[in-house]
Amino acid sequence: MDIFRIEGPVRLCGSVTINGSKNASLPIMAASILAGGKSTLSAVPNLSDISVFSQLLEQLGCCVTRSDNGQLCIDSTVIDNPVGDYEIVRKMRASICILGPLLARYGKAKVSMPGGCAIGDRPVNLHIRGLQELGAQIHLKNGYIIAEAPNGLRGKEIFLGGPFGSTVLGTANVLMAAALAKGRTIIESAACEPEIADLAKYLNKMGAKISGIGSPRLVIEGVGHLQPVDYEVIPDRIEAGTFMVAAAITAGEITITNCRLDDMMAVVDRLRHIGVTIDPLLSRPPPRLASGDAGAGESKNGVVVTCSDGVKPADITTQPYPGFPTDLQAQFMALLSLAEGNSVIIEKVFPDRFMHVAELNRMAANLRKEGPAVIVAGVEKLMAASVMASDLRASAALVLAGLAAEGITIVNRVYHIDRGYEKIEKRLNPLGAKIKRKQIKGV
Ligand code: EPU
Repeated sequence: MDIFRIEGPVRLCGSVTINGSKNASLPIMAASILAGGKSTLSAVPNLSDISVFSQLLEQLGCCVTRSDNGQLCIDSTVIDNPVGDYEIVRKMRASICILGPLLARYGKAKVSMPGGCAIGDRPVNLHIRGLQELGAQIHLKNGYIIAEAPNGLRGKEIFLGGPFGSTVLGTANVLMAAALAKGRTIIESAACEPEIADLAKYLNKMGAKISGIGSPRLVIEGVGHLQPVDYEVIPDRIEAGTFMVAAAITAGEITITNCRLDDMMAVVDRLRHIGVTIDPLLSRPPPRLASGDAGAGESKNGVVVTCSDGVKPADITTQPYPGFPTDLQAQFMALLSLAEGNSVIIEKVFPDRFMHVAELNRMAANLRKEGPAVIVAGVEKLMAASVMASDLRASAALVLAGLAAEGITIVNRVYHIDRGYEKIEKRLNPLGAKIKRKQIKGV
């Protein structure tokens, strides 16, 4: 298993280009099932989660190939095994989003029921309820969700809100199924996340009729069939936010290109409150990009992120989009650990997503968990320690803390970070980080 050895503190300076979004790519890959034929997706990041999802599609019968220029080609002409195996679903919960498209295209599906994970219970009751509203018959057997729609799916008005608000992948599942259902579906309390808007745009390019994109009310006029298309996924706003925190926590200056600030207003608001300067690059010519970076154009617009006057405390509440994203909560906790004063972070999406608290405290942070909230008492400096990554975003927070901490931080189980950040050390080191990846037996 790999570990990171991080020498700190460092000041990060330079440029980085944001990759395509993992959380947009996964449902879009699932949606390619809806059209029999070859879809070509650009800007899909080269991550372990994407490889696992590719394996899942291959088990269904699809052929998935990645070309040298980074494009992912999915040939879904043949789907002869509509089963999401436990062995794959247990590795990645997002596998659940094959349920809707399989039902719509194939009329039946069997997908392992996802279990709990490091960030909480994560039920899928809303996915199931939404698909049942469209006419699917669903029951559970031996840990599997067995779904059938022998008479096809029928459009319906569906309220998809739950105790924690909207559901991202639940909306994706119902949206994909509704695209091929007979008649009109209205999803009320739909997730408004940019990744769901991107999925809806992809579906429309395939021939779906979806309106209200980006709003909590999606209206879908079902169509008879969808066709494969070429599509480029949006940049990853969570990766962009992580690099912004990297600039702030190291009092550095990072130019971040291929970053859509419009998708990050809550994040930008909190960063500015904290004392971070974020200047759009709009008026400047695009910087020269290293080979392999995505092409020029509007999406190349970026920002210069600096933080030179210390970190001010801030209160943060995570919420569904357009609120502050839960996927940046851990990274901001690392940053606010160094603020001149006390901050409160309230987690309203996954109230148990705090595995990083104890690990950051091992690095001399002063964090106290109170139910779904953490009180962050700012400290003057963080100290290096050996820490354990528990999930993707928690491990990103530990890497960020390691950049700022004095001494050698060892982050164990970095396979978590590889799920969502492509070669993070190879992107941070050119900015001035000192991160070494080492293979250790039995950690
Ligand atoms: N929920 C229910 N019932 C459901 C589904 C969700 O009660 O049927 C609850 C969840 O327990 C949670 C809340 O609703 O309290 C929101 O969960 P949601 O369904 O929106 O999460 P998700 O779709 O499973 C996606 C991202 C997560 C991200 C969340 C929230 C992907 C692949 N995953 O998960 O990303 O944290 O939305 O924004 O898109 C990550 O990238 O690190 C990650 C965990």
